[in-house]
Amino acid sequence: MCNSISEELKKKDFLTLFDYSTDQITYLLQLAKDLKSKQKAGQFYHPLKGKVLGLIFEKSSTRTRVSFETGIYQLGGTGLFLSTNDLQLGRGEPISDTAKVLSGYLDGLMIRTFHQSDVEALAENASIPVINGLTDDFHPCQVLADLQTIEEVKGQLSGLKLAFIGDGNNMANSLMIGAAKMGLDFSLASPQDYLPSAKIIKKTKNIATETGSVIEITTDPLEAVKGADVVYTDVWASMGQEDEQKKRLKEFSAYQVNQELLQHAKPDYTFMHCLPAHRGEEVTAEIIDGNHSVVFQEAENRLHAQKALMVALMSD
Ligand code: CP
Ligand code: NVA
Repeated sequence: MCNSISEELKKKDFLTLFDYSTDQITYLLQLAKDLKSKQKAGQFYHPLKGKVLGLIFEKSSTRTRVSFETGIYQLGGTGLFLSTNDLQLGRGEPISDTAKVLSGYLDGLMIRTFHQSDVEALAENASIPVINGLTDDFHPCQVLADLQTIEEVKGQLSGLKLAFIGDGNNMANSLMIGAAKMGLDFSLASPQDYLPSAKIIKKTKNIATETGSVIEITTDPLEAVKGADVVYTDVWASMGQEDEQKKRLKEFSAYQVNQELLQHAKPDYTFMHCLPAHRGEEVTAEIIDGNHSVVFQEAENRLHAQKALMVALMSD
């Protein structure tokens, strides 16, 4: 089975987790675990020797940039940071032309941008694998690392309850899909006007019926967090929403992850956040810096999970 999955994944784009089967995600998580062990044992492993990954950024990044650049280096290849401020793309060169040109130089392309449709256009026109490094709608790389982290901490994925409290944003969407694919129950609480799109919820619920996971969408944070094994939150104003910061602070005030709310989770709950975090807004310092929090393990796993992704997509 593993041989055929490794063949399926060669040159495959990674645009959303919708496009990946449970078996393919399981394969990537196992590979991430193996690569992490190799790294911790100090073993050199260079399956991507001579390969170049381009990294297009139209938004800021700490974790995504550094983990991809370090990851490709550790695998024997090179990363090329490409800011849209410098690329002709930023001056109006079509995405389709950019995709075709870069396909002639590179072996893989990661992009962080606003519109999911731009990532899709890039992938459609590129002959090399395209990886979504975050859009307004999805952040699948983060969720791969999150699933790896949950498995490390809890020893399982299927059967757990993951609660997401806050904005129904890119993280909420990707976590919901990842949970449904891997058989975790997923409960989300957002203010009415900030729930994920009905289309994404519907598509995810269809997956959940196949895997046996339960997807619950509510406006009540207490309801969502009840009996949760993992409690996840993210910023209330994402990149590109800076103008709405003030309004959002007010509208999300009842959605803070704090000690009081977490009394309703399982006593051994795990707290997660993709980072960067705003202490005192979506989560209190007491919780994110407390002993249930695994946010730095989660951040480290970006490196291992994305190394697995690059090996799977970019190997000959
Ligand atoms: N979690 C995450 O993607 O972080 P960066 O924005 O720093 O890349
Ligand atoms: N929702 C956040 C995630 C950052 C990693 C954003 O898009 O800004």
